[in-house]
Amino acid sequence: MIYSFCLLCCMISAGSGTYNSGYLKTKVIPELEECSSTVFNDPLSHSTSLNVISCGVECSSDETCRRFMFDSQTNQCTLFDSGENCITDETIANKVCYRQEFVCNEKNCSRCPIGYYGDQCQHIITDCGNVSSTITLPDRYMLVFIRPSDAGPVLEVKCLGKKTIIHHRTKFCHDVDFNRTWAEYREGFGKVHGEYWLGLKHVHKIIQNNGQECTLRVQLHFNPVIQAVQYQSAVLTNQSDSYRILLSGSNARVNETDYLTGGAYSIDGRPFSTYDRDSSGYSCPGRFNGGWWYPENVNCSLINPVGRRSYDGSEDSFRWDDLQLTSTQFYALRLFLSC
Ligand SMILES: *[C@@H]1O[C@H](CO)[C@@H](O)[C@H](O)[C@H]1NC(C)=O
Ligand SMILES: *[C@@H]1O[C@H](CO)[C@@H](O)[C@H](O)[C@H]1NC(C)=O
Ligand SMILES: *[C@@H]1O[C@H](CO)[C@@H](O)[C@H](O)[C@H]1NC(C)=O
Ligand SMILES: *[C@@H]1O[C@H](CO)[C@@H](O)[C@H](O)[C@H]1NC(C)=O
Ligand SMILES: *[C@@H]1O[C@H](CO)[C@@H](O)[C@H](O)[C@H]1NC(C)=O
Ligand SMILES: *[C@@H]1O[C@H](CO)[C@@H](O)[C@H](O)[C@H]1NC(C)=O
Repeated sequence: MIYSFCLLCCMISAGSGTYNSGYLKTKVIPELEECSSTVFNDPLSHSTSLNVISCGVECSSDETCRRFMFDSQTNQCTLFDSGENCITDETIANKVCYRQEFVCNEKNCSRCPIGYYGDQCQHIITDCGNVSSTITLPDRYMLVFIRPSDAGPVLEVKCLGKKTIIHHRTKFCHDVDFNRTWAEYREGFGKVHGEYWLGLKHVHKIIQNNGQECTLRVQLHFNPVIQAVQYQSAVLTNQSDSYRILLSGSNARVNETDYLTGGAYSIDGRPFSTYDRDSSGYSCPGRFNGGWWYPENVNCSLINPVGRRSYDGSEDSFRWDDLQLTSTQFYALRLFLSC
């Protein structure tokens, strides 16, 4: 942790001694591909500041600011309302990113990073739906800190209101390779501002925290169509049972294809498989480029949400059954968990 400066407002609270307040220098991540059309990266404001300190003062004086990026070459000061790191598709030289820690006075801390709450920001939500009157999340995409398990790590995830995004594919950012091991699918991987997999153990824990009452929504965005299917109940069994998925209460209408629980390709009750822990029976993770709850089918699956994004008709490329032919129009796929 590097505190390269501390603003006046936080020095007042330095006496409390228990909690740090101020700004934590984080990362500026280069995103060479155009990634800025994703809402999480929309800034609150752009302005010109004298230096990094006055940019920080600007962030401190804006109630909604949680992070800022300063460019010492252009003196651009950009404020953001959530998130840990800054990404840019321009050169990262001369840019710095600071995330607000806690803003405190002698008595207590008021402004916490999104997801933390309490007088001393000592609490943290367990998932995007784990909010109450003390903390609310706006009904739009936000980068939020959660900790599903008391003993586990703090994770940064994307929330849409109270929905936690557990799998995200988007053509706007760099491809993440989904051909990963069991351990990686269990712990999670990828980039919160781009494509990621939250991690089976975290999803399992979130569902368990909520008394096994979570809804899974799959939303596929193909220009100009948005297709969505929702399962009223989604449960994962434990790791020793290979995080089997149990889905019920599909909202697919009669004669509408239910890609996850319909017919010979149903994943309901199926174990999760990766190439190094394969229960699919047909080497599906190796053929399809990644881990998934593969149906028990020689063809593996009609969909491939972990496939390579550049669709070329092969098994290991991204597809969603009949929409495979129009996959150049692919925008995004999101799996939302609402508890
Ligand atoms: C902490 O600050 C908030 C906002 O200023 C205030 O509403 C709350 O009562 C304070 N809590 C304590 C314990 O002083
Ligand atoms: C948030 O999660 C914790 C831990 O699972 C639970 O005790 C608490 O009741 C939850 N709060 C809400 C508002 O869901
Ligand atoms: C894991 O789940 C299986 C099947 O539901 C159950 O029999 C077993 O007791 C569970 N193990 C643990 C450690 O919870
Ligand atoms: C579903 O498809 C069958 C067979 O094509 C048809 O007879 C039936 O009317 C359809 N039902 C609805 C609700 O569209
Ligand atoms: C995934 O990785 C495994 C292990 O490195 C490899 O055997 C397999 O061919 C890869 N699959 C694809 C589709 O690249
Ligand atoms: C596998 O795919 C082939 C070719 O599309 C099809 O003829 C066959 O019925 C499928 N097998 C199963 C078990 O779904």
